Amino acid sequence: MFVIFLFTSLIGCKQHGKISVSTYSSCIKFVGAKNVSKALEIYHSIPDESTKINVFICNSILSCLVKNGKLESCIKLFDQMKRDGLKPDVVTYNTLLAGCIKVKNGYPNAMELVGELPHTGIQMDGVMYGTVLAVCASIGRSEEAENFIRRMKAEGHSLNIYHYSSLLNSYSWKGDYKKADELMTEMKSIGLVPNKVMMTTLLKVYIKGGLFDRSRELLSELESAGYAENEMPYCMLMDGLSKAGKLEEARSIFDDMKGKGVKSDGYANSIMISALCRSKRFEEANELSRDSETTYANCDLVMLNTMLCAYCRAGGMESVMRMMKKMDEQAVSPDYNTFHILIKYFIEEKLHLLAYQTILDMHSKGHRLEEVTSIKTLLVFIVLI
Ligand SMILES: *[C@@H]1O[C@H](CO)[C@@H](O)[C@H](O)[C@H]1NC(C)=O
Repeated sequence: MFVIFLFTSLIGCKQHGKISVSTYSSCIKFVGAKNVSKALEIYHSIPDESTKINVFICNSILSCLVKNGKLESCIKLFDQMKRDGLKPDVVTYNTLLAGCIKVKNGYPNAMELVGELPHTGIQMDGVMYGTVLAVCASIGRSEEAENFIRRMKAEGHSLNIYHYSSLLNSYSWKGDYKKADELMTEMKSIGLVPNKVMMTTLLKVYIKGGLFDRSRELLSELESAGYAENEMPYCMLMDGLSKAGKLEEARSIFDDMKGKGVKSDGYANSIMISALCRSKRFEEANELSRDSETTYANCDLVMLNTMLCAYCRAGGMESVMRMMKKMDEQAVSPDYNTFHILIKYFIEEKLHLLAYQTILDMHSKGHRLEEVTSIKTLLVFIVLI
């Protein structure tokens, strides 16, 4: 209703030729929450050039685009606005930088934005540094993150737990546990107490760094602090152990977790099934898959794929078909991995026509086969022809 009211007032105002900046700004915000294209239409329909580069209105539309993950078009529009005379403020930059977290090409865009700041006279504040650090951490740029931390210190900003958390996260990519330990010491020395996110991130660093004894100790610490009430930290450690070829140790974490009655959505089972498959223990993987199927009625695609994979190895055609039926019933659309697992299975079972149909199905859904599979596929086509 409110949106309709806004529209009416917008149209009404238009006829009188005086729409205020705040009307445009709130209209764009409200409309944009539901429909970005419509919000863009409103923005582009602004007749007055000086209103179009008003910083409040610009911030509203840029924020709409960012919230919808359209960073690229957002940056393009921002560049156009600047050419038209926009004087961006600290909100503009914070909005754009926030959009750079966890999108492809977020990092170079963020660095470009930060590079512009000296020309605008805008000083980076703690919030902005926090966002930039998160962008660095999201792709493991630890050296750049360190540089920003140094700058913060030199400029006299006080570091909070989020700044440290991002830096720590950037160390998790390479498992740089030495730097991580130094950071924890420094943080504690200024009186900051690591929270659940940080402790879990530290666990990620240790696992990635292959420090499994330390990881187990830290997991116990998480437990005593009440930070291990769900399966996540257990899953991380199990996955790390299994990838390092330590299946039995992974299983002991799994059993331990089950024994403690830790809340689980089935990811721990899924990781254990993958671990068993990785060690070619297909019968056990198959058994655990059957267990999981009965325990967890609503599995997500990752779990379904893991089970499907186990069944393809040892469960037999019946289980594979049951799994495919289940996906169909739950209206889960298969992804690249699902198709890949099935095609490989059908080829191995010499069910070439099924493999061929699955490939067609896969292509119709817009997935392409990778090179390794393509060679096998080619062989299938030759057999078919
Ligand atoms: C969003 O707005 C555009 C442009 O006004 C319109 O064409 C489209 O149908 C709208 N989409 C939805 C989901 O309402």
